[in-house]
Amino acid sequence: MTREGIRIHEAGDFEGMRRAGAIAARILDDVIPLVEPGITTAEIDKFIEAKVTEYGTTSATIGYKGYQHASCISINHVVCHGIPGDKKLKDGDILNIDVTVILDGWFGDSSRMYVAGKLSRKSERLIQVTHDALMIGIETVKPGKTFGDIGHAIQSFVEGHRMSVVRDFCGHGLGRVFHAPPNVLHYGRPGTGAVLEEGMFFTIEPMVNLGRPETKTLSDDWTAVTRDKSLSAQFEHSIGVTADGCEIFTLSPGGLFHPTYPQD
Ligand code: MF3
Ligand code: CO
Ligand code: CO
Repeated sequence: MTREGIRIHEAGDFEGMRRAGAIAARILDDVIPLVEPGITTAEIDKFIEAKVTEYGTTSATIGYKGYQHASCISINHVVCHGIPGDKKLKDGDILNIDVTVILDGWFGDSSRMYVAGKLSRKSERLIQVTHDALMIGIETVKPGKTFGDIGHAIQSFVEGHRMSVVRDFCGHGLGRVFHAPPNVLHYGRPGTGAVLEEGMFFTIEPMVNLGRPETKTLSDDWTAVTRDKSLSAQFEHSIGVTADGCEIFTLSPGGLFHPTYPQD
């Protein structure tokens, strides 16, 4: 069944998403000790690729529109879709790692922020606001609310902290497919957009910039960066709408979704 083009999943489908989401989250926990100055993003990606196999899943990103890696790793002013490579992490770098796995046909998609070495005050603020923006968006979710309500909650929180919400990328429906309707905007007006219903599965994945919201995509056709070179952060969960709210499918098994970092 669909509503306004958005699939309404059945009660039993939640278990498939729970299992896929748990593995994406476990891999994001596993990678924490690797994130130190000196490691390359390709090394982190190879570790993730091995974990994807070890846990009996497959990578949703390898082969997706020609993408060849098990993760996207987006450092500092990279907004999203950073391609793992030979670049070594430096002290104070902040990075988003985004992993999507497939288990029994279900897609688990999550990303979070990491820090190499010591965290600066302004990076800490950016990461905190971005994390809280995602969680405020998630708290909005329940049947009868609209996608515009989610976007508005995120946008007003972020702009209240004098930061900006990226418009060029959005969250998405998912389930037995990677990217499905609707586009989940991280900005908007209350009461607009489709009405949330029990059984809708989607991601919320706000990208927040310290400077202006505009992005550009580099000549590799993937890497998106802030036009003004300001720092950018992102957190992502896959969720399902329940009768009275939502279930987060990609909760960290170790409670490490927003870890504490060594301070500068
Ligand atoms: N995981 C990303 C998302 O949140 C999509 C990555 S597509 C890739 O939707 F090809 F760049 F990996
Ligand atoms: Co996503
Ligand atoms: Co993702």
